[in-house]
Amino acid sequence: MSPWLVLGVGIFLLFGCAGCPVEIIPPSLVVRYGESALATCRALVPISEMSWNSTVGVVGMEMGVTELSWTVKELREWTVRSQCVISTEDGYECSKELPIIVYNMPDSLAVTSDPPGAMAEGKPYFLHCHIENIAPVQSLTVRWFKGSAQLIEDLQHQNSKVGPQNITSDLPVVPHLSDNEAHYRCQADLDLGPGGPTKLESVPFSITVYTGCAVEIIPPSLVVRYGESALATCRALAPSNGMGWESIVGGVVKDGGVQEVNWTVKELQEWTVELQCFINPRHDDQCVKGLNVTVYNTPNSLRVTSNRHGPLAEGKNITLICHIENIAPVQKLTVRWFRGDTKILENLSFGTSVGPQNITDSYTFSPNLSDNETQCRCEAELDLGPGSPPKLTSYPFNINVYKGCPIVISPPTLVVKYGESASADCSTFVPHNGIGWNSTLEPVDAVKDINSVHWSVKELREWTVKPLCFISTYDEQCSKALIVLAYTFPDTINVTTAAPGVMMAGNNYTLTCHIQNVAPAQNLTLRWFKGSVLVKEDHGPQDTSVGPRNLTFDLHITPETSDDGAQYRCEAELNFHSAVAKPPKLTSKHAISVAGK
Ligand SMILES: *[C@@H]1O[C@H](CO)[C@@H](O)[C@H](O)[C@H]1NC(C)=O
Ligand SMILES: *[C@@H]1O[C@H](CO)[C@@H](O)[C@H](O)[C@H]1NC(C)=O
Ligand SMILES: *[C@@H]1O[C@H](CO)[C@@H](O)[C@H](O)[C@H]1NC(C)=O
Ligand SMILES: *[C@@H]1O[C@H](CO)[C@@H](O)[C@H](O)[C@H]1NC(C)=O
Ligand SMILES: *[C@@H]1O[C@H](CO)[C@@H](O)[C@H](O)[C@H]1NC(C)=O
Ligand SMILES: *[C@@H]1O[C@H](CO)[C@@H](O)[C@H](O)[C@H]1NC(C)=O
Ligand SMILES: *[C@@H]1O[C@H](CO)[C@@H](O)[C@H](O)[C@H]1NC(C)=O
Ligand SMILES: *[C@@H]1O[C@H](CO)[C@@H](O)[C@H](O)[C@H]1NC(C)=O
Ligand SMILES: *[C@@H]1O[C@H](CO)[C@@H](O)[C@H](O)[C@H]1NC(C)=O
Ligand SMILES: *[C@@H]1O[C@H](CO)[C@@H](O)[C@H](O)[C@H]1NC(C)=O
Ligand SMILES: *[C@@H]1O[C@H](CO)[C@@H](O)[C@H](O)[C@H]1NC(C)=O
Ligand SMILES: *[C@@H]1O[C@H](CO)[C@@H](O)[C@H](O)[C@H]1NC(C)=O
Repeated sequence: MSPWLVLGVGIFLLFGCAGCPVEIIPPSLVVRYGESALATCRALVPISEMSWNSTVGVVGMEMGVTELSWTVKELREWTVRSQCVISTEDGYECSKELPIIVYNMPDSLAVTSDPPGAMAEGKPYFLHCHIENIAPVQSLTVRWFKGSAQLIEDLQHQNSKVGPQNITSDLPVVPHLSDNEAHYRCQADLDLGPGGPTKLESVPFSITVYTGCAVEIIPPSLVVRYGESALATCRALAPSNGMGWESIVGGVVKDGGVQEVNWTVKELQEWTVELQCFINPRHDDQCVKGLNVTVYNTPNSLRVTSNRHGPLAEGKNITLICHIENIAPVQKLTVRWFRGDTKILENLSFGTSVGPQNITDSYTFSPNLSDNETQCRCEAELDLGPGSPPKLTSYPFNINVYKGCPIVISPPTLVVKYGESASADCSTFVPHNGIGWNSTLEPVDAVKDINSVHWSVKELREWTVKPLCFISTYDEQCSKALIVLAYTFPDTINVTTAAPGVMMAGNNYTLTCHIQNVAPAQNLTLRWFKGSVLVKEDHGPQDTSVGPRNLTFDLHITPETSDDGAQYRCEAELNFHSAVAKPPKLTSKHAISVAGK
């Protein structure tokens, strides 16, 4: 049997069972419209001729080849048929089809909303995905995503149309307020098998969802100082047939086509402003949205006064008053008190009156000595949210605290010779209702409006004078005593002995020092000297007697011959420990002579 007969039977078998004995590489083509195409046909059995029968790029019959290429430089047909045709040597002819898909992918996808603009909560809208010049639509699946979650797969564009199509895929949306700023995107998938494009995504499309009236007011609340300018912008969130502002001042109406209206006032001189932006949405009923306007005023400064002036006795109450002039709105006022840097008190309730008010806030406390020189202040704050004016702080109010009776006597002690003049001053550092001297001698009635009262006596002729300087402060009456030390002192003192004349050595003698008219005797110090040597010290009687006295002081001696010519003398001194001034000392002039045996 001829091998070719066997082959012919084989070819027949191939035709019958596995088709034309050629291999096309690649077995199918996916080509972008306008780009090049290339495939190669290779015979699997000995053949006589080979060709490509195509709607574009025909390759004529070639003899004596085993493979043949089909090429198109720029494929500009949407329907291309191409088959590789062979003839065997014994005249069998067969062909194999090369499946070719011509596609087009747009550069980008666009998402729009319908109607455009912001979306009202709960109303139906559409999102459209616009896909231009895509082919083949039979392989197109449009997928919608919200965030990363897939919503739907849209296959309804898979019709039989050939060539590029403009496709719009619709996504119905009924937004909730929580969908505000949600990102939607569409994705076009051309499922063309290996070699084809896979997918193209749109840029994310963010939706704005509002509730209520389709306007946005900027700023959402307005804080304006009385008399200053104000501006608010109302922006339509949906197509408008007209919009505007309703107000007792600065109202404005704009026709359709306008999407933004400003409310402006140069000098706002109303304390209550009711402001509403209205809109006639093209697809809805008229609606309004209000804007809260807070009109405020603050004083230039705060003042602190007190219910009393000057230094304060420890433990007594003082009330400080913070004066806040022409402040508004008092509903939002907070007043705080500070002692040093420490916040002590905070008050919030100042009524509900509209417009500027004069507010006073008080703070009562009883400082102690450690609060001396403390600075107190008050602070006013209007809490109006964003745009609030800065806090205001008063100048510091100084607290001075003292302890005891607030008077100073100068000098505090007087040492006065009986019959001579005496004077002292009494002064105070606090405000008072009267200051004076209470005294058996020359009292001074209480005087107001001066800080110092003078007490004086021309001739002091009393032994027990105790002038009291008294003061009536706002808190109490108190006094301090002036210590007056009246004294008298003799001009001379002398020394006597019982046996005048020359003394005998070895005998006992008594020397007597005489001091007449001395007072106060209690303060007298008497010293005996032999030559310059102190031999005895005595003191006046420590009794309670008052007034001048005659005093004698004895010194017992037993002279020796060596004492001949010795000088004995006594010296008297009045001592006032508390006093600066001292009366003079006195020394006796008499000398005693001692005779030898
Ligand atoms: C080429 O293909 C067309 C369409 O399939 C067909 O009508 C024609 O006979 C084929 N020609 C050859 C030589 O096979
Ligand atoms: C698709 O839309 C684009 C732009 O509007 C247009 O130029 C093109 O002709 C349209 N194509 C088809 C197939 O309608
Ligand atoms: C509203 O005021 C703003 C800020 O001054 C300005 O930018 C905007 O152009 C104004 N809008 C209109 C519609 O006048
Ligand atoms: C306006 O003020 C009223 C009363 O204080 C308040 O209830 C309302 O929420 C405010 N509106 C806005 C938009 O701030
Ligand atoms: C002093 O102030 C305290 C506290 O503020 C108060 O309890 C007290 O009654 C006041 N005393 C006088 C005398 O006003
Ligand atoms: C507040 O006090 C000032 C100064 O005493 C006065 O001019 C003003 O009228 C007062 N305002 C009110 C609201 O009473
Ligand atoms: C209180 O402060 C004043 C000065 O402001 C000072 O002169 C006075 O000595 C102080 N008093 C006491 C008790 O510290
Ligand atoms: C002043 O003296 C009178 C009588 O001597 C006495 O009643 C009064 O209480 C004294 N006043 C003071 C402040 O000591
Ligand atoms: C001294 O004492 C004598 C005797 O008592 C007396 O007579 C005389 O006057 C005194 N002299 C003086 C200066 O006091
Ligand atoms: C002198 O006095 C002393 C004691 O006072 C005594 O002991 C002595 O005897 C006396 N002398 C004469 C001479 O009296
Ligand atoms: C001196 O006089 C003052 C005032 O009278 C008194 O307080 C003091 O104790 C006296 N001194 C003596 C040593 O007696
Ligand atoms: C003290 O002595 C003198 C002279 O002897 C006399 O005049 C006077 O009264 C005496 N004074 C007293 C307080 O005894």
